[in-house]
Order: sequence, then C-alpha cells, then structure tokens
Amino acid sequence: MKWIIFSAFVLTIIACGQGNNAEKADMYKASELSAMMREMVIWSNEAKATLAAGDTIQEVPASFYKLVDKTATRGEHLEDAFKAMAPVYTNALKGIERKDSQQFYYSMSIQACKNCHSVYCGGPLAVINQL
Ligand code: HEC
Repeated sequence: MKWIIFSAFVLTIIACGQGNNAEKADMYKASELSAMMREMVIWSNEAKATLAAGDTIQEVPASFYKLVDKTATRGEHLEDAFKAMAPVYTNALKGIERKDSQQFYYSMSIQACKNCHSVYCGGPLAVINQL
C-alpha cells in the first residue's frame, strides 16, 4: 500500500506543482487541504479494502466534512467551483455513514474526487483511478 501513497506525492509534484517559483516553494510544505487529501487517499484505500472483504465501513473521519474550511495552496478553497463540488463528496460520505449501499456511496465518493480533480490539478487522478 505504501507505493500508492508514495506515488500520490510524486504525481502531485509533477502535475499540481506547476507554476512560478513562489508556488514551488509552497510544495514543500503541504497546505491544510493537501495534507487532508493525502489522508483521504489512505482512508479511501482502506475503505475499498473493507468493502472488498465484505465488511462494513464503520466510520468516516469527521475532518473530511470540513473540506471547504481547509486552506489550499493556491486559494482553491475560496473558489465557487470548489465550494460547489465539495458537497458532492461530503454527501457521498454521509451515505457511507448511513451504512446502506456502502458500495454505491463509496463509488459516488470516488466520482466526486474525479469531478473536482478534472477541474483542479489532474495529477492525482492517476491515484484516484485506483481507488
Ligand atoms: C471539491 C474539490 C475536491 C475534491 C472533492 C477532492 N479533491 Fe483532492 N484536491 C483538490 C485541490 C484543490 C487540491 C490541491 C490542494 C492544494 O494544493 O492545496 C487537491 C489535492 C489532492 C491531492 C494532492 C495532495 C498533495 O500531496 O499535495 C491528492 C492526492 C488528492 N487531492 C486526492 C483526492 C482524493 C482521493 C479525493 C476523493 C476521496 C479528492 N482528492 C477529492 C480538490 C478536491
């Protein structure tokens, strides 16, 4: 599983880190949002394994619901498109927590990652496509 996390970092540096030098400097210190995105990758990966084993996902980290309150490197969290797409993800999480059709809501959560990442930095899509 470690290589997945590792490739998340590498891909971000390649694809999300384009821009001027000021932005480059930021890459070394993950923004609040980046740090949480990395936790989301790990959690989603575990959730996928739980479902594959026929088990029930017990809980969703409460911090994931605070997506829009996390500061992003380039201020993405302040943009309307970001604010519009964040609830698609958190609604899917609520579905998972209700514990009915977790497979359905899990897929919906990953679709929400893809939607937002088709607008904001497509680099992590390679990682997301494996979730
Ligand atoms: C509402 C929009 C949105 C959703 C939903 C979203 N992301 Fe992100 N993601 C972003 C933005 C914006 C960034 C860039 C953050 C920054 O650079 O501060 C990002 C960054 C990342 C990164 C790079 C983190 C790093 O190392 O810098 C990964 C990996 C990632 N997201 C994976 C995911 C996964 C997996 C999901 C779904 C479980 C997801 N994202 C859902 C907007 C979103």
